[in-house]
Amino acid sequence: MKITCISGSPNAGGNNEKIIDLICGMLKERGFETAKILLSDMNVQPCTDCGACKKEKVCPIEDDMAEVSRLLETSDGFIVSSPVFFGSVSAQLKALFDRTILLRRNGFLLKGKVGGAVAIGGSRNGGQEFTIQAIHSWMHIHGMIVVGDMSHFGGIAVKPVESDEAGSKTIRDTVNMVCDTLERFK
Ligand SMILES: Cc1cc2nc3c(=O)[nH]c(=O)nc-3n(C[C@H](O)[C@H](O)[C@H](O)COP(=O)(O)O)c2cc1C
Repeated sequence: MKITCISGSPNAGGNNEKIIDLICGMLKERGFETAKILLSDMNVQPCTDCGACKKEKVCPIEDDMAEVSRLLETSDGFIVSSPVFFGSVSAQLKALFDRTILLRRNGFLLKGKVGGAVAIGGSRNGGQEFTIQAIHSWMHIHGMIVVGDMSHFGGIAVKPVESDEAGSKTIRDTVNMVCDTLERFK
């Protein structure tokens, strides 16, 4: 089974990408195949609501979204990590979310996949919970199975993430919840 980790940060090597590396290590130890989508490294433009995905079932924007969609479609689960930007997800991640409307309009292709969320902020109470809710909304609107960290909503951390022990535990717990849930389907 494959779990794809998405980093919504524009910063290569930043807190979200460091945590994605740790998460991929955990997933491999648990026997899952992994893939990464790092938005610092990809060109995903915002949706323009042109309507082509409704009428012709295609997206005319030429960027990296075709590759992202292929990865999403072939995954069984996701861990989505975002920096907190003004109390919510990054613009880069929101652009990816909006562009997945093509997968929804082509027959709910992400339905039934398992998802967990991580939010990393510069402040302790900087809007991580709302950011996670925004990620969960994307998952619910696709009909995914959404899990938290077993006690609350998901991975909630403050940078520098490697020094945030309590936050790192919520991230590990979220990863284990995604794995445990997927293992029920094996
Ligand atoms: C435009 C912008 C807005 C931000 N807004 C918030 C915020 O509302 N709350 C918060 O805790 N941190 C905020 N931050 C800090 C980022 O969440 C923090 O730097 C994050 O950990 C960066 O992750 P990265 O290292 O993976 O890029 C903001 C940073 C930027 C650039």
